[in-house]
Amino acid sequence: MSNILFIGAGRMAEAMFSRLLAQPKRLFKTIYISNNTSKTHLAHLAERYDVQPVTNWTDVVDDVDAIILATPPSTQPEQLRTLSPLIRNQIIITIAAGIGPSILENHLPEGTATAWIMPNTAAEIGASMSLYTFGKHVNASQKTLTENILAAIGTYEELPEEAIHNLTALTGSAPAFVYEFVLQLENAATSYGISPTQARKLVVAMLHGSASLLAKTNDPVALRDAVTTPGGATAAGLQSLADHQFGDMLTKAIEAVNAHAKARKN
Ligand SMILES: NC(=O)c1ccc[n+]([C@@H]2O[C@H](COP(=O)([O-])OP(=O)(O)OC[C@H]3O[C@@H](n4cnc5c(N)ncnc54)[C@H](OP(=O)(O)O)[C@@H]3O)[C@@H](O)[C@H]2O)c1
Repeated sequence: MSNILFIGAGRMAEAMFSRLLAQPKRLFKTIYISNNTSKTHLAHLAERYDVQPVTNWTDVVDDVDAIILATPPSTQPEQLRTLSPLIRNQIIITIAAGIGPSILENHLPEGTATAWIMPNTAAEIGASMSLYTFGKHVNASQKTLTENILAAIGTYEELPEEAIHNLTALTGSAPAFVYEFVLQLENAATSYGISPTQARKLVVAMLHGSASLLAKTNDPVALRDAVTTPGGATAAGLQSLADHQFGDMLTKAIEAVNAHAKARKN
């Protein structure tokens, strides 16, 4: 059975290794975890989960088959420099925004297996919509290993590197748009005199029911039309959204995320 090393033990690493450990069939014999400065946090994680904390991750590189870079994007070039002379045949998987396999390959020895996974925050409940792509030198068992990790944290879709750069806005950032949508509906609800607690209950249950129906039928047009009698009250609400360029607003929000991400990269 394989061993895996997480460089970085923050929020996303914890979501991932906790889900790996929750699988009915064990995927990794040893899960090593490491971070930068916070040894108390590392010890706390080791008390909570069946993971092996390491003070110096370079000590265990030789013992693992996969390495997950779960650190801030700006720190990864330095970690790749440290890793380079230690690589055997491990697969190096980054989860950093903006760091695709072509960037990893530029920093690692020729022939190194690489992958890029972009999960979202729902990974912690096994419901991430993750995007992923492989570098040029990944073998079949490394692909299976990566897809087993993806399956442990939710649903996944393989896309070309450039598409992941553009669509991280949708799978990674748009959940924040959904939560903003919830908050605005709650504001509308409390304006009719109900308490914030009641407003939260109404909106969350409505959203949960709608998302569950959508997951079951996979047909947003039919579901929208089922609520909308032509010329009726819901139709008036949809017309108001159209009048206020709802579709345009969402397109522009996605474009704003991408423009910001690109500006940071250049
Ligand atoms: N959170 C998300 O929704 C999300 C979604 C998709 C992708 N990501 C990506 O996941 C990565 C981690 O995000 P996060 O939200 O988990 O961040 P986080 O909670 O801030 O955790 C970052 C981790 O990296 C460690 N670290 C920082 N610099 C390091 C270094 N030079 N060497 C070794 N470890 C170092 C930190 O250690 P210390 O605590 O000791 O400083 C910490 O354990 C980022 O690249 C982010 O783009 C995050």
